[in-house]
Amino acid sequence: MNKILVTGGAGFIGANFVHHLMAHTDASVVVLDKLTYAGNEASLADVPAGRMEFVHGAIEDAELVDRLVAGVDAVVHFAAESHNDNSLSNPRPFLDTNIVGTYTILEAVRKHGVRLHHISTDEVYGDLELDDPAKFSETTPYNPSSPYSATKAGSDLLVRAWVRSFGVQATISNCSNNYGPYQHVEKFIPRQITNVIRGVRPKLYGTGENVRDWIHTDDHSSAVLRILERGEIGQTYLIGANGERNNKDVIEDILVLMGQPRDSYDHVSDRPGHDLRYAIDATRLRTELGWEPAYTDFEAGLKATIDWYVANEAWWAPQKDETEAKYAKVGR
Ligand code: NAD
Ligand code: DAU
Repeated sequence: MNKILVTGGAGFIGANFVHHLMAHTDASVVVLDKLTYAGNEASLADVPAGRMEFVHGAIEDAELVDRLVAGVDAVVHFAAESHNDNSLSNPRPFLDTNIVGTYTILEAVRKHGVRLHHISTDEVYGDLELDDPAKFSETTPYNPSSPYSATKAGSDLLVRAWVRSFGVQATISNCSNNYGPYQHVEKFIPRQITNVIRGVRPKLYGTGENVRDWIHTDDHSSAVLRILERGEIGQTYLIGANGERNNKDVIEDILVLMGQPRDSYDHVSDRPGHDLRYAIDATRLRTELGWEPAYTDFEAGLKATIDWYVANEAWWAPQKDETEAKYAKVGR
């Protein structure tokens, strides 16, 4: 694949994927991004000139998407409204981008016969009890909890329907919680790191017993590239790296790694409908496609992520005050 359209390439995971493509392939990319509050062109500043074209636009713009899709070998579709808390205060953009936007991409790849990889989330499966021995797998029934996860579930089902009804050449992946560089400060790990840098106490929702299955974003990128190159059309792959941790442990790890007392954080009100636990069984990806994560030591990955935020304050500082003002309005 010589030329790849990356939607949402100025966001957290999309930008890391573009960097991964630059380092591990000879492909060139076209990035299509609306530059919402979550998009930042600075995340792509290091991409070699000549290997990337940046297009500022929306995935719901059918004419633009049709023209861009006609000129590429594959589409990797990251663009989304991605934050659960925002979906609780204002769901509408989630419907427009995640549902109508994905529909628009599907119609273009259908027309031009272009390969699509659709990026999705483990949240489509709902949540697990803390003591449930089961993990999410490709056969777990969909049961989303939030407006965000419901729209991602809807987008996955559209992709499946376009594969079956129209023979679209698509694969889907559902990944667990990512961490790493270039993540917006609204998300859990960067919010706490940047709070500590600013001398503000980290904020833990509720009791903090909620479990997330953390994966380094570069491992997500390597899995997506593997599926793009070797995945079976029509198939869904779960991506995870056995990184289950509860939020309380993560916040305490961050404090200790940043030289603070482990209990110097605040409990704030819980997120309504807060999913309790996510856990991924990535057996299919590992056995059928031979994928393995490179980041198996969470503390080491977290330390590197802290170092990145300490060194890149100019990247995140412009987003910080506005983000905290949004949280203050809902008491979190
Ligand atoms: P993000 O919010 O950091 O980035 C989203 C990007 O999409 C931004 O650059 C934004 O400007 C762009 N965008 C939003 N609406 C658009 C539109 N209508 N048209 C064009 N561009 C638009 O999100 P992220 O965390 O990088 O997530 C990327 C994808 O990965 C999403 O599909 C998300 O559901 C999925 N995902 C995220 C995680 C995670 O832990 N963050 C885990 C699993 C799956
Ligand atoms: O599981 C994959 C999903 O992971 C992705 O689909 C989403 O796009 C991504 O945002 C993420 O969703 P979460 O809701 O799990 O991530 P978030 O970073 O918002 O929160 C992680 C956990 O931390 C969650 O249990 C809520 C909690 N939390 C969050 C914030 C922002 C806190 O305790 N304090 C906080 O300040």
